[in-house]
Amino acid sequence: MTLGVHNIEVVYEDVMLVVKGASLHVPADGIVALLGANGAGKTTLLRAMTGLLDVHRGRISRGHVSIDGSEIDTRRAPDVVRAGVSQVMEGRRVFGEFTVEENLRIGAYTRSRSGVADKLDRIYTMFPILRDRRGQRAGYLSGGEQQMLAIGRALMAEPRYILLDEPSLGLAPQIVEQIRDLIVTIRDDGTGVLLVEQNAAMALSIADHGYVMENGKIVMDAPAQALRDDDDIREFYLGTGATSGSLRDVKHYKRRKRWLS
Ligand SMILES: Nc1ncnc2c1ncn2[C@@H]1O[C@H](COP(=O)(O)OP(=O)(O)OP(=O)(O)O)[C@@H](O)[C@H]1O
Ligand SMILES: [Mg+2]
Repeated sequence: MTLGVHNIEVVYEDVMLVVKGASLHVPADGIVALLGANGAGKTTLLRAMTGLLDVHRGRISRGHVSIDGSEIDTRRAPDVVRAGVSQVMEGRRVFGEFTVEENLRIGAYTRSRSGVADKLDRIYTMFPILRDRRGQRAGYLSGGEQQMLAIGRALMAEPRYILLDEPSLGLAPQIVEQIRDLIVTIRDDGTGVLLVEQNAAMALSIADHGYVMENGKIVMDAPAQALRDDDDIREFYLGTGATSGSLRDVKHYKRRKRWLS
């Protein structure tokens, strides 16, 4: 049982090749981290996985995406959700004019109406703050609450896999910890998680496996523990050394340093 990306290439506007042959696998019972600097192509890869490229004038030009063995890359976004894959987009997209509960109900749109009350109850148990705010306009929630609402809305579709695009971005450390614990709960409840993060320390603290993407390619693919122990990852992503340039620059620099010394 896996969500798989097999040697995908993505082009925008038919000319800009942004993902240049990337493969990754998300097991149904695991958390997989996808790390990478700004512009590496992480969000584009998620769009390719959920049928959202066409609205951005992009398309998959090679490779395919599969869920539990069947290809899904030719399906439209709502069909991908029906197939069991939900995405929480970058930047906490909630419908600000609607109430918290209306936002959650929208998340169940691919499902039949029956059972929505049970699903709402499950989400409210997981996120008690959303139960307290159920009648309020979503636009008035704090950043952390909006992120929880966006995740709760995706869970209303009862996905087998959930893709989270930078859920910790711009949130206070205490809120990031809450989000991290929630991601663990989601995995423990039986949903596979693909976690895109610039906060590598947070992502690698809970992930089973990790990928590093750079310039449209996967440049590292290893158990999370190995990435936590990797000197280059520590230097570049975990803030224990040089923090500018690319992972490759760090490697070059270290090689040169070794050579000079
Ligand atoms: N609709 C689009 N049309 C053309 N180019 C695009 C489009 N969307 C993204 N890009 C380009 O594709 C590259 C990868 O962008 P993407 O958003 O996938 O990166 P990312 O790894 O998610 O970065 P970030 O960490 O900043 O979110 C960037 O150079 C970006 O400018
Ligand atoms: Mg992005």
